[in-house]
Amino acid sequence: MSEQGTHRGAGSPSPVSVERITHQDVPAICALYKRVWEPAPDGVPSEFVKSWIPTPLEFTSWMEGITYFAARRDGRVVGVVGLEMRRGTGRLVHLAVDPDARRQGVATALVKAGLDWARHANAPAVWTDALAKFPGAADLFRHLGFKDAGLLHRHEWGEDIRLFELLL
Ligand SMILES: CC(C)(COP(=O)(O)OP(=O)(O)OC[C@H]1O[C@@H](n2cnc3c(N)ncnc32)[C@H](O)[C@@H]1OP(=O)(O)O)[C@@H](O)C(=O)NCCC(=O)NCCS
Repeated sequence: MSEQGTHRGAGSPSPVSVERITHQDVPAICALYKRVWEPAPDGVPSEFVKSWIPTPLEFTSWMEGITYFAARRDGRVVGVVGLEMRRGTGRLVHLAVDPDARRQGVATALVKAGLDWARHANAPAVWTDALAKFPGAADLFRHLGFKDAGLLHRHEWGEDIRLFELLL
């Protein structure tokens, strides 16, 4: 398994590299989450948006339990994802790609790095979730081989949450 990788999306000018983050990356990653979630998408309760834009201190505490990977193009952070190992299973969290870098394979490269990490940790499966009102996220996970694993109704701040799983 590799914790690093490169991916060249169709039509993208330069390759994307994916690597585990270090504490030096925290400001750039927090700035990315802000770019992704501000302004808040239509119809998404503000509690979500607050929970998705960590301060550097909050993100540093997330790093204690989660392995994060950043995607970079030309030295700039354009995407991030976390892989949390819990009870022997992997969970992908906090996936976000810069609005200017979408549909170029960035999320694909990040999710693959997370799956490699889960395999490395001998996880038999990886799961993730997304707001049901985000069809793009659902399409991405299905495109990457995840299967729908259920829908939790009004589960978080009144919103339906869709679950996805991939057996490794
Ligand atoms: C969802 C998100 C992570 C996708 O990132 P991305 O880098 O654009 O995804 P990729 O380029 O790797 O997409 C791979 C494939 O997934 C599917 N896909 C990705 N985004 C899609 C969208 N918005 N609509 C439909 N299909 C989509 C497509 O099949 C795509 O292949 P194609 O571009 O050749 O058609 C990105 O749009 C994002 O950050 N959104 C806001 C945050 C979010 O929704 N996070 C998800 C967890 S809640």
